[in-house]
Amino acid sequence: MIESGSRTDRRERRGVTPGPGAGTALWPDPPMRGILLAGGTGSRLWPVTKAISKQLVPVFDKPMIFYPLSTLISIGIREILVITTPGDRDAFVRLLGDGSQWGLRLEYAVQPRPEGIAQAFLIGEEFLGGRSSALILGDNLFHGVDLGRWSRPGAGVVGGHIFAWPVPNPSAYAVVEFDDAGRVLSIEEKPSRPRSRYAVPGLYFYDSTVVEVARGLRPSARGELEITAVNDHYLRQRRLGVTVLDRGSVWLDTGTVADMARANEYVRVVEERQGCKIGCVEEAAWRAGLISDAELRELARPLFSSGYGEYLLGLLG
Ligand code: DAU
Repeated sequence: MIESGSRTDRRERRGVTPGPGAGTALWPDPPMRGILLAGGTGSRLWPVTKAISKQLVPVFDKPMIFYPLSTLISIGIREILVITTPGDRDAFVRLLGDGSQWGLRLEYAVQPRPEGIAQAFLIGEEFLGGRSSALILGDNLFHGVDLGRWSRPGAGVVGGHIFAWPVPNPSAYAVVEFDDAGRVLSIEEKPSRPRSRYAVPGLYFYDSTVVEVARGLRPSARGELEITAVNDHYLRQRRLGVTVLDRGSVWLDTGTVADMARANEYVRVVEERQGCKIGCVEEAAWRAGLISDAELRELARPLFSSGYGEYLLGLLG
């Protein structure tokens, strides 16, 4: 089975590891829950992030966390655990609240130390309550990608599902290696000699076994529970799907100052030229039918002085 958007040329169709469960329901009811990981030290952005969480720093006209949050909304996830550092928790609560204003249920948990992305599943075990999950990194920005199909029941495979996207600097990411038939051969975290140009973006779908998988991990050489080790586990079990995002999609992460500048510029250009916002949580909630026209109007009211409120009202025509 091939999964990579609408185009069908060979390069874009590559990248699915057929597992024993391929073709059966991916995520059984009840609905999947989301984890938004927004901890870490942000040290690659110091001094910008010395006193403020990286995921609260603006990317053009909104806080960084709005981008992954609106991605989760647009893929149909309504119950989300936001994981922060202990010191930043209150600021996130001030910004996002309990999510009810956007038709969501947000909960919060803290990660005492940045001991790895996969630790999110240990911290979130109770919240997940045995459900399947989508994990998104708080500094990743997706645009123009239809990711919703992987969160819907019956989507096609069992286990885990991740994505791949060609980048000029694969060593900065997890890298997926494919054979000529498009099967996944390996996934390596930040290899010094990458075996392909295909980086793994920070959005991961897993079935309920992910908590067990995370529990079985040992810290890597850099002292982290690696998300790549989770993916490698599913790969070795032949239960990992990898979809190469098609060429119309955009994935940006904001790890470094240069990445931040690029993301700012990208959002500015697209928003100014298209007149449409990217990562607008209110709009995503409204488009998903989670809030009414009247509720959107109410959300717009305090946001007028920045022009953001005007944009929201403009959506109502
Ligand atoms: O952006 C995609 C890449 O993200 C993947 O290709 C890599 O496999 C994955 O390891 C990760 O690499 P990064 O170098 O970007 O990871 P970083 O340490 O910057 O953390 C990514 C985000 O997750 C960031 O917003 C901070 C947060 N984080 C990270 C760790 C390690 C936490 O909240 N807690 C943590 O323990």
